Amino acid sequence: MKDDIILSTLTQAEHSIDALDLARRAADYVTLEVGHIPDDAYIRDFFTATPPDLGPECLLHFGVMEGPAMVGMICIAEGYEYPDDWWIGLMLIDPAFRGQRIGHRVVEKIKRRATARGINMLKLAVLTANPRALKFWHREGFVHHRDAPATPQSDGHDRVVLKYQL
Ligand SMILES: CC(C)(COP(=O)(O)OP(=O)(O)OC[C@H]1O[C@@H](n2cnc3c(N)ncnc32)[C@H](O)[C@@H]1OP(=O)(O)O)[C@@H](O)C(=O)NCCC(=O)NCCS
Repeated sequence: MKDDIILSTLTQAEHSIDALDLARRAADYVTLEVGHIPDDAYIRDFFTATPPDLGPECLLHFGVMEGPAMVGMICIAEGYEYPDDWWIGLMLIDPAFRGQRIGHRVVEKIKRRATARGINMLKLAVLTANPRALKFWHREGFVHHRDAPATPQSDGHDRVVLKYQL
């Protein structure tokens, strides 16, 4: 088995270039979600976009490090939808490293960190157009929370919100 992965804090000032590089490698998913390959605005959003009614201090950003290589990135919003929820806004693994249980190990680490911080529930929204991700999250123990269909104001994607009780 390979060395374990490490979740390392990312900052906009220091890691925007690394994040854009990773997002470009994972352009398959980014294009599915936002309709174009990742650009600077996508990375700005990754670092700064907040859920309704929360400020930027709620955001946590991690790089998934396998040795010196950043093979994934994650954004979490603390306090959405409830104060003791962690909302996983994005989890992206480089396609060259998918299917090697890295995602599983990342989720295990997120669960441990969230528990240590007194978080009660993990939540996230999956695109219904992304059935492999849905299968992944179900295998990690997440269950259906609610449907979040596209609205006239939204980006046009139907989503399913999943939850994991810690
Ligand atoms: C979903 C994702 C984070 C899982 O990470 P991972 O390291 O590939 O996951 P694991 O190796 O632990 O588990 C593999 C499982 O993930 C799922 N999976 C989803 N997309 C996958 C992909 N493109 N390639 C391989 N596995 C994928 C499958 O269920 C797969 O199981 P299978 O091999 O039996 O089909 C990762 O594949 C990814 O970044 N996908 C694109 C972005 C995305 O969909 N993010 C989630 C948004 S909610």
